[in-house]
Amino acid sequence: MQNSYDRTEDNEDTERGQVPPFQTPKGVHDIMPADHEYHTFIKKVVRHRCRQAGFRRITTPMFEFTDVFRRGLGDATDIVSKEMYTFQDRKGRSLTLKPESTAGVVRAYIQNNMKELAQPVELFYIEPHFRYDRPQKGRYRQFWQFGFEVIGESDPALDAQVIQLAYQILDDLGIAQLFTLQLNTIGTNEERVAYMQALKDYYFGKERYLSPDDKMRLEKNPLRILDSKHEDTIILNQSAPKMMDYFGDETKAYHEELKEYLTELKIPWVDNAGLVRGLDYYSKTVFEFWDKTDGAQNAIGGGGRYDGLFELMGGDPTPACGFAAGMERVIANMKREKIRVPRKDDLHVFVAQLGGIAKKKCLPLIKELREQGIRTMGALGKGSIKVQLRLADKFKVPYCVILGITEVREGTAIIRDMKVGTQRTVPFENTVEEVIKVIGEENLDRYTPGEVIY
Ligand code: HAM
Repeated sequence: MQNSYDRTEDNEDTERGQVPPFQTPKGVHDIMPADHEYHTFIKKVVRHRCRQAGFRRITTPMFEFTDVFRRGLGDATDIVSKEMYTFQDRKGRSLTLKPESTAGVVRAYIQNNMKELAQPVELFYIEPHFRYDRPQKGRYRQFWQFGFEVIGESDPALDAQVIQLAYQILDDLGIAQLFTLQLNTIGTNEERVAYMQALKDYYFGKERYLSPDDKMRLEKNPLRILDSKHEDTIILNQSAPKMMDYFGDETKAYHEELKEYLTELKIPWVDNAGLVRGLDYYSKTVFEFWDKTDGAQNAIGGGGRYDGLFELMGGDPTPACGFAAGMERVIANMKREKIRVPRKDDLHVFVAQLGGIAKKKCLPLIKELREQGIRTMGALGKGSIKVQLRLADKFKVPYCVILGITEVREGTAIIRDMKVGTQRTVPFENTVEEVIKVIGEENLDRYTPGEVIY
């Protein structure tokens, strides 16, 4: 079966003269059952670690007014200028599918007056996002992120805790060792304005060496020139003014303190003066987890501090820091590391039957088995017992309950171990109890009504 993540070409009509079957649009894909097992596992780890650290879950809408992102992320960013799915509703209002969650969370914090709550407010999310990116490995037009935000306080210890939580989750998922933590500070807004002017001055007269993309960056957001992939720009960047020289003592001390905390937490990092991130809302701390072989190309996640964003969005000045990771990239790396996740979908029991009376007795039996947390499938069609057992084999079910004409007459049922090939006859009324014994109480899939499952 073709992996839907690998298919990026557009639909092409067949020449068979038939209506071509529908395909997903470029860059989006189905999450097939096998990948859902990874999704479920990742969500479980994220929820567990976030709740342990006092975070509560938030879900912002799939779409917001376009200005939430334009103002929040910055007009000149690639996301806003090229990658948003923007449309008008029937009243002509401009709406956008969320390309990331931070701006929406900030909007929600302000709208719901969360400043009245005990601070910091700690929120996490697990959501699909949409960007009109050029589809390629690890880059899709609909993708999932998990992320978290700590809002309401500014302290390098909080930045360290956000990084630590991200690192802990990657470690729980078995992939932390594949990445390096790239760390930088981009200073306060004022410091950045002065530095950007210095960058512009430096590049004045050197524009002819720049790629068209870099020229535009220089004009709209000179900082982004620092992470250019263009060869000439990389060379020119080496002699460009250094950001550090434009920082005041406070920014420098903040960053040093963060590094001290990371050392305490035994989290290694790489100082990366060129790391500026692709969103305009950051100030001071920025960080990304880069692939040890591919570098920035397939960063698994990133984040930083965004103290200025609340005012931009019409709120009171409020410091905040956060992180988000791409779940498709997490899954690809878990597979690369051959990390297996619990297979929650596997069936426990297959019920095979023969004859009208057996079929009638099977329906309540199947219901009761399921009720007790035994994942049960029954072939209630007409095939022979042999055909049904072959089907059970195909489903890789470890046990079968068989109810043939003899068993119905004698008031019994057969429990067959499909791996070993042995079987045992038990009184029909004890079937559920006996099945639980072979499966093991601890493996049952029990659901307590009222328990929230998501
Ligand atoms: P971001 O770096 O734009 O940050 O995205 C975070 C992660 O989402 C990326 O490192 C990548 O793993 C994944 N990602 C982004 N675009 C795609 C795509 N087209 N296909 C697949 N995966 C993708 C943010 O979104 C910030 N909101 C993070 C943050 C939270 N900063 C502060 N708080």
